[in-house]
Amino acid sequence: MKSDVNFTYLFGSPIWNYDIVSIDRNVLKNYILDLKNKDIKGRVLSNSGGGWQSHNIPFNTPEFKPFYFTITNVMNSCYKELNGKADKYKVVIQDCWANVNKKGSFNWSHVHDGFLSMVYYVEADEDTGDIQFLHPSKLQSLNWDFNMFNHENITSTDAGWKFSPVTNRCLIFPSWLEHKVNVNNTNKTRISISLNTKLEKIL
Ligand SMILES: [Fe+2]
Repeated sequence: MKSDVNFTYLFGSPIWNYDIVSIDRNVLKNYILDLKNKDIKGRVLSNSGGGWQSHNIPFNTPEFKPFYFTITNVMNSCYKELNGKADKYKVVIQDCWANVNKKGSFNWSHVHDGFLSMVYYVEADEDTGDIQFLHPSKLQSLNWDFNMFNHENITSTDAGWKFSPVTNRCLIFPSWLEHKVNVNNTNKTRISISLNTKLEKIL
């Protein structure tokens, strides 16, 4: 029977994943661990659940140049995929920092300041702490109970969605999309890089 009830999937939360194989992650890893040794305290923002977070990593850091170059290209592809005005604006990196998460650490729910944001797993097994994105509307989970729906596919009925970390993989998401990182219950360390971007007018 042909249905005349039309379905529109409105207001999406675009998320991309991309495995970066073109850069040497060990260069990044060594740089981050060295940075941590020199600055044991780091800074405390969403990582007050025990993880170490670096201060901003400068754009002219030689070890990060290939990474910044690759990510900038990927981000601009994502912007095009969103039907962005790529002839008028380009995506540029705004700030970037590193994270080292040992056993027991987690990140409270938070949003980022920027256009698109990203996490890149320098070293992370899948059981070292999922990132969980939360539905943009707080009201969603109040009346749409998880148990009311089948969950075979990604649907608007889910209040949250988890991604397990994978070494070399980056996840790109809108900076406004709330997320948290679940506890690393293993004895393994998860090392990641986070960054925010902004749109810059092409002159
Ligand atoms: Fe975050």
